This record gives sequence, structure tokens and C-alpha cells, in this order.
Amino acid sequence: MFKKSSIKNLPNHIGIIMDGNGRWASLQGMPRNMGHKEGINAVERTIDALIKFNIKVVTFFAFSTENWKRSQEEIDGIFNLTRDFIKSKRENFKKRGIKITTMGDCTKFPDDLQHELQVIKDDTKDNNNIVVNLALNYGGRADIVHAVNNLISQGETEVTEEKLSSSLYSYPLPDPDFVIRTSGEERISNFMLYQIAYSEFYFTPVLWPDFNERHLRKALKNFSKRNRRFGGTK
Ligand code: FPP
Repeated sequence: MFKKSSIKNLPNHIGIIMDGNGRWASLQGMPRNMGHKEGINAVERTIDALIKFNIKVVTFFAFSTENWKRSQEEIDGIFNLTRDFIKSKRENFKKRGIKITTMGDCTKFPDDLQHELQVIKDDTKDNNNIVVNLALNYGGRADIVHAVNNLISQGETEVTEEKLSSSLYSYPLPDPDFVIRTSGEERISNFMLYQIAYSEFYFTPVLWPDFNERHLRKALKNFSKRNRRFGGTK
């Protein structure tokens, strides 16, 4: 039986680096895009579980600035899957209070994908059950450079932490408290570099397409035991 209340000190914002789709597919003898297809199912499953745990913000690292190095076939597959997913889930998300936001430079995406992203963002903008933030053509370094250039174009001559934070793609979302990476890789891969200064990290060997509510629960239990000091003492 699912017991949400048994876990104290849940994170407010969780960042998820979904990794292992390709390996999952090759283990099944399938093409890489089948791994991404199952990866989308895992995204849906995870959103449902996060809502049960009453998590308020999640960021999925869906497409990085480095992912353009993949084959055109794989890139097109990811774009098609993402477009079909957000299109088919729009009404459902709208009804369930799920607010979709994006961070990154989506202007490089196909027009139909940009259109569907804009429609779902507009349709869900007043929702407040959970924010599902999709990192798309996103990189932490590009985020900082983009923020600084924005400040310069506004005529700022001195950057402060406050000004920089409020110019990042993720603004006004809070910084992630917890970052989960699947597939056993223990690295950050350019994910929200500025915003993760005091995040807690959790690495699991589970491949992203296999990730489920039980794995999430285990990660959240682990987070709940962390002693966060933010550089102070306790
Ligand atoms: C990592 O696995 C996965 C990606 C780089 C892309 C994942 C994207 C999706 C599942 C689409 C997400 C869409 C939404 C709407 C959230 P990998 O291919 O790097 O796996 P590997 O390391 O085993 O090769």
C-alpha cells in the first residue's frame, strides 16, 4: 500500500537526468528510439507518482545542447515522440492541474514541435498542482551565457547573484533540492549548473525506461535522511 505520509522532508523541486534509454533498447535488441519511447512512458509514470507524493516542481532533462551530436534519425525520433506526447496529454494535463513550462532555446526545433509546446504551455499556464518543466535544447553553460547576455542587453553593467538568478531560463522556479540520475552514470552533464549549487544528488543504476514509483519512493526516502546545511553548521 502506498503511504505518502510516511516520508518526511520531501524536496520541493526535483531535477531528473533521464539516462539509459539507448542501453535499455540494446538490451532488448531494439533500435534506440524504442528506448526513448519507453522513456516517455517512464516520464508519464513519474509525473503520476510525483503528484501522489505532492512534489510541486520537476524538471526533466529531455534534450541537451549536446544531444545535437546524435544521428538525425535519433533526433527526429525524440522530437516526434515529444510532440506526440505533449499533444496527446494536453487535455489530461490541463484537467489534472499540471503546468508545463520549458527551459532552453526551442527556436531550433521543428515548427510543429514549437507550436505544440506553445499550445500546451498556454493551455496549462494557470495550473498549480505540479510544474513539469522540460529542459529542451538546454545546457547549464548556455543558460548562464544567455542570462548574462540578457542583462547586458538590458544595459546592466554589473552582475549580482540576484540579477543572474532571475535571468536564468528556470526563473521563477526555485532551485532543485534534489537531482536524480538514472543508469549508473555519476555526472552532471551540464544540467542546471548554477541552480544546483546546494542540491542533493542521487544516482541509481536503474535504466530510465524501467524507473517507476518504487524507485522514486526509494530515492525520496534517501533524500529525507539528508542533513542539508547550505554551507552552515548543524
Ligand atoms: C538518455 O538516454 C535520454 C535522452 C538523451 C533523451 C530522452 C528524451 C526523452 C525520453 C524524451 C523526453 C520527452 C519529454 C516530453 C520529457 P540515452 O539515449 O543517453 O541512453 P544511453 O546512455 O543508454 O545511450
